[in-house]
Parts: sequence; C-alpha cells; structure tokens
Amino acid sequence: PLRIAVLASGRGSNLAALLAARERGELPVEFVLVASDKADATVLQLARSASIPTMVLDPREYADRRAYDFALFDRIGAHQPDLLVLAGFMRIIDGEALKPWTGRMINIHPSLLPKYRGLHTHRRALKAGDPEHGASVHYVTAELDGGPVIAQASLPIEAGDDENKLAARLLPLEHQLLPAVVALIAAGRLDWSEDGILFDQQPLHQPLRW
Ligand code: GAR
Repeated sequence: PLRIAVLASGRGSNLAALLAARERGELPVEFVLVASDKADATVLQLARSASIPTMVLDPREYADRRAYDFALFDRIGAHQPDLLVLAGFMRIIDGEALKPWTGRMINIHPSLLPKYRGLHTHRRALKAGDPEHGASVHYVTAELDGGPVIAQASLPIEAGDDENKLAARLLPLEHQLLPAVVALIAAGRLDWSEDGILFDQQPLHQPLRW
C-alpha cells in the first residue's frame, strides 16, 4: 500500500477523516508517520491512539526556516513515505527543502484556489461578497498555496454566515475531499508532471469537483 506521512499543526479533523476512510476500506494506505511542529497539537493524540508513529520538531530549536525544513524532511524521509499530506500544517515551507518532494506532497487549503492563498480564507470570502466558498487540494510547490489544484469542493455562502459558521459547514466537505484525492493517488490515477496534473493519463485541465 501507499505509504503516507501526514504533517499537521492542530486539531487533526482531516487526519481523522483519512483514518475513518481507511477504516471503511476506502483508502488502501499505510500511515507511516504523523509529524507536527507543535508538541501539544491534538492531532498527535489522535495519531497515538491510532498507533501511528509521531514526531514533533520544534521550529524554535532551529536557526531559520530552511534549517528547520531540511531537518523536518530529512526525518520524514527516514520513514520512506510515498506521499506527504499536509492536513492543517500551518507553516510556510522553504522552496529548496520541498523540491525533492515535488509531485509527492499535497495540501488541503480552505478556499477555492487561486482565491485566498494564505490565512483567514473564510473571512476574506465573506468580505468579498462571494456567492460561494470551498476547499482545494493541490500539489505543493515553492509558491505558497500556488501549486496545481487537483480537486475542489464548494458550497454556497448563505445570508447570515459568519466566519465560524462558514468554516463549520466547509469542514465536512474537506473531510470528503482529502480522502478522495488520496484514494485517487493510491489507485495510481493521478500523476504529477512538469506540464501539469495527469488524471487517468490525460492532462487535467480543471480541478476535479467534489
Ligand atoms: C483545515 O480547515 C484546513 O483546510 C486548514 O486548516 C484546517 C485544519 O483542520 N488548512 C490551512 O489553513 C492550510 N493553510 P484540522 O486540523 O481539523 O484538520
């Protein structure tokens, strides 16, 4: 099975969704590591209770971002993952450090990319008066939240939505989207190429919709 390392900084509901999908038999993967930059992240408890090896690396113990990221990927690499999944990993990653993982690292981001890279995506979608909002899973490149988008899930913004309500309604869609994309990768149906994403051997011209 595909060997997966998950990087996460917080609550871990997306990891929980991946684990649940595997439990249901929908995700033939092996979780080889959950890595975090935060020693007290809830996601680590979740990983431990699922008997997945965990690793915490504290950025404050490194001279700069690049030193941290090289150390991080070095240690992750020791577990020989086929795929790195960023599931709420709240750090910008150094471009040189991630280069060797190009095409083997995906991220879930809570916006309809290319809209709203970075933080506070729900707030920004509301403020812009967008009719819809969503989440994207994309390959990670040196450009922050700028790599090729594999798949998106969207929902209408409703009158009376605030940041929290919108985030809460989006989250269950994220929990479908991320396992679905990982399942496609595990099935060998998605590929990275320099020219863009290949889906079933064909160029993917627009993100898959969920
Ligand atoms: C998710 O909403 C994810 O899309 C977002 O953080 C949350 C993590 O939740 N990711 C980013 O904002 C990445 N920049 P979780 O810890 O419960 O999975």
